[in-house]
Amino acid sequence: MSLLEAAKSVRERAYAPYSNFKVGAAIRSIEGNTHLGCNVENVAYPEGTCAEAGAIAAMIAAGDTGIAEVTVIADSPAPVPPCGGCRQKLKEFAQGDVMVTMATTRGATLSMTVAELLPGAFGAGHMEGT
Ligand code: THU
Repeated sequence: MSLLEAAKSVRERAYAPYSNFKVGAAIRSIEGNTHLGCNVENVAYPEGTCAEAGAIAAMIAAGDTGIAEVTVIADSPAPVPPCGGCRQKLKEFAQGDVMVTMATTRGATLSMTVAELLPGAFGAGHMEGT
């Protein structure tokens, strides 16, 4: 199954009763496995989690260590870029040249690298010498 098909299928399981905006994310890890996540909202709104965060958590829980490729899908007039927090979360486990494909259920796609999505990222290198 392609990352796009996987993201589309996990999106259907999203829990988004407050925004009604379901999002699915599929990660291919550097180990070659696929990990899925969907947004899971909460009545205490800030406690909700994004699809990308769920997929990253699944990847780490499965024992994989890095992101090779990501696809995110939503039902939107235009491709939905990851929020700022998720850009930083992706950067934690992805090199700058890793491709993030943003897709819509209406058939549009937009691909950008992690470095394009998060220029000037705060990285582990900044912590050296502390
Ligand atoms: N959302 C994601 O899961 N990923 C994105 O890339 C953008 C937004 C979710 C968060 C919230 O549950 C809903 O979409 C509306 O913002």
